[in-house]
Amino acid sequence: MLVSGAYASKPGDPVAGEMQAGLCGGCHGFDGNSPDASFPRLAGQYEMYIVKQLRDFQKGHRANNDTMAGMAAMVASLQDAKDIGAFFEKQKMAKKPIATVDKKLAAQGKKLYYNGNPKTGVYGCVNCHGDRGMGKAANISIFPRIGGQHRAYIVKQLKDFKSSSRANDPAGMMADIAKKLSEKEMTAVSHYLSAQLP
Ligand code: HEC
Ligand code: HEC
Repeated sequence: MLVSGAYASKPGDPVAGEMQAGLCGGCHGFDGNSPDASFPRLAGQYEMYIVKQLRDFQKGHRANNDTMAGMAAMVASLQDAKDIGAFFEKQKMAKKPIATVDKKLAAQGKKLYYNGNPKTGVYGCVNCHGDRGMGKAANISIFPRIGGQHRAYIVKQLKDFKSSSRANDPAGMMADIAKKLSEKEMTAVSHYLSAQLP
């Protein structure tokens, strides 16, 4: 369902991607394990999800960060985006979250992650993001890996989807969910997810 004409060129080459990814390392970490929560971890993320985000930033479909839009503009071709994506997908996520995890909040977040919230009509995250946020499969990369991601970054994205400052989700899938989440639920699920390391 995903492989439209525009995406159907050569697969990404992680060796070619490594050199280009030097441009990204200052913020995202040279191995995709950024040490700062304002920069998402890219290690282990699906190549084609990374490609989609780069294209969305380039075209203004994802407009929730000007710095990253400027960086995406420097990625010259679809093939370059795929090469960079392939490099980061191959990197292993570091085994520790940078922020401490509150066990109680993480337990509440886990419940929301697996069961959703029937009272407010929130569908369990697991249905799209897979067990422990590890995603489903590389060929269904519309659903990103979110396990092990920085807490603050997760909360920012949920708020951005809720306020529509990030509106690049296919069919408004995330907006639909984020609009029904309370701030407390966002915090709880971010504690759970940031602790889901490989
Ligand atoms: C100057 C810092 C900076 C540099 C350099 C940078 N980025 Fe980013 N990037 C960001 C920030 C900040 C965000 C988060 C934006 C937000 O808050 O939504 C981001 C987000 C992303 C995302 C979205 C991740 C996700 O999980 O949705 C991708 C993909 C990405 N960057 C790829 C790259 C690539 C590839 C490069 C190198 C060509 C790069 N970035 C260079 C700052 C940077
Ligand atoms: C119906 C499917 C679906 C469900 C259910 C769902 N998501 Fe998502 N989510 C998506 C899609 C699709 C994207 C990617 C949007 C894009 O292409 O930019 C996404 C993106 C995200 C992102 C941004 C990831 C990044 O790297 O920037 C976060 C965080 C997230 N979801 C958290 C959640 C949480 C928490 C829940 C449960 C409360 C949830 N999602 C439930 C489909 C879903």
